[in-house]
Amino acid sequence: MIDESLAMRATSKYSSQLADLNRAMLKTRSLQLRFGMIIVLFLALRIVSSGSAAQQNGTAPPTFYRDVLPILQQDCQSCHRAASIAPMPFESYERTKPYAGAIRHAVEQKSMPPWFADPAVGKFANDPSLSAAEIATLAAWAEANAPAGDKKDAPPLRRWAENWSISEPDLVLSMPQPVSLPASGDIEYTYEIAPTHFAGDRWVRMSEVLPSLRSNVHHAVVYIRPPDSSWLRHAPVGIPFTASTLNDPDDRRGALWTDSDILLVYAPGSSPDEWPADMAQFIPAGSDLVFQMHYTTNGHAASDRTSIGLILSKQVPTWRVLTLQLTNDHFLIPPGDPNFRVEARGTLPKDTTLLSFMPHMHLRGKRFEYNLIHRNKHAAGKPAYEIEPLLHVNYHFHRQMSYRLAQPRFLKAGTELQAVAWYDNSEKNPHNPDPGATVRWGEQTYDEMMVVFFDVAVPASMDKQRFFIRPKN
Ligand code: HEC
Repeated sequence: MIDESLAMRATSKYSSQLADLNRAMLKTRSLQLRFGMIIVLFLALRIVSSGSAAQQNGTAPPTFYRDVLPILQQDCQSCHRAASIAPMPFESYERTKPYAGAIRHAVEQKSMPPWFADPAVGKFANDPSLSAAEIATLAAWAEANAPAGDKKDAPPLRRWAENWSISEPDLVLSMPQPVSLPASGDIEYTYEIAPTHFAGDRWVRMSEVLPSLRSNVHHAVVYIRPPDSSWLRHAPVGIPFTASTLNDPDDRRGALWTDSDILLVYAPGSSPDEWPADMAQFIPAGSDLVFQMHYTTNGHAASDRTSIGLILSKQVPTWRVLTLQLTNDHFLIPPGDPNFRVEARGTLPKDTTLLSFMPHMHLRGKRFEYNLIHRNKHAAGKPAYEIEPLLHVNYHFHRQMSYRLAQPRFLKAGTELQAVAWYDNSEKNPHNPDPGATVRWGEQTYDEMMVVFFDVAVPASMDKQRFFIRPKN
């Protein structure tokens, strides 16, 4: 909210400066008429000098090459380039200019770059939001009719890694077989199980997902399946499958719902995982990695073979990163309800350091909150508890993102966690497949889910089972 008002002020200040400049020029013209030729020279000098003063104040219209392209390179081209998911590439002046107005609108509305956390709650290391000054620059550029400027002012072309952005991985694991994608239509989530053949345990300090066909990968989740896990045990290994092709009902359910540890979530524009010093994720010897791929189509049949690159820790770290979740699977969302609230609570069984969140709902998901509840000692005049918000998200089903705390947060055993989700089951929700339905927990996107995954750091010797053993009182 604060950012928004700043941005508005910055733009209106900008346009009032433009208006001043116009007025100054009008004034000069009438003076010219009155005082004739001799003064013309003098005034021309004045215009030039006030022009350059204006430039120093940042009031000359921004140009594409000097002012706009650096922002596009930095904040938009991860998706808006020929080889990525957004429909229009913002790489050249010619291809960008027609969208100047739409760009202005999108950045002023803060619909681009996609980011759904309320800026008033928490600070996140992976927040891509533009600064008020950047928004003002894009808006002023559109307002000035999108001038190109001088090509010489352009920043060097940004080279997009078709390859790793982490340093050379110690190890690359790929989906054993490529997945063929049709030219059009929706594609069910596609899975592929990749054995690691790890003879010993491994600790992962950094990881990055690398699709071979970035333009069609909407998201990927890579799960760790330890050898003793029964998850998807009847599913084929090393070949692509979808939930509906599985015969075993447990597997079919499991394809869409699992509490397996997540190694990494990828979405276009998301950054690789890189844990703070001395923290790592654990892959037990003999595990498989399970790739869950959400592909989209774009008019061309194609195929993808996604890989994950891992940088391993040379020694056992002090801290192990675990992915936990808060879930409520008992709810009934009434037909037409525009704002149905579902809550989940839990207490931390052990001391932990909270690192990041990823809420998950389906098509009726609207808002999500992650809070801490602090109980007050009974005292007159004090409320029984206070809520400390850590994350407020305006949820978007097609843009499931994770939110990494800028400052990891230490929480003592016994800390109460609260997740609250709101659903819009009304016809006003453009994604709603059936406003007439009573909606409950389920696997399909026309059912609902209420989950928040969150990463925590715990002592390296702790596994998920031990983590949940609570002290007896
Ligand atoms: C994470 C990927 C991603 C990033 C980063 C991103 N966009 Fe987009 N953008 C999209 C996609 C995908 C669409 C297509 C429509 C949709 O899916 O919403 C889109 C659509 C648009 C549109 C069309 C109108 C609209 O609002 O839907 C504009 C304008 C736009 N983006 C501007 C920008 C600008 C400017 C930036 C950088 C400041 C940016 N985008 C960053 C993915 C992204």
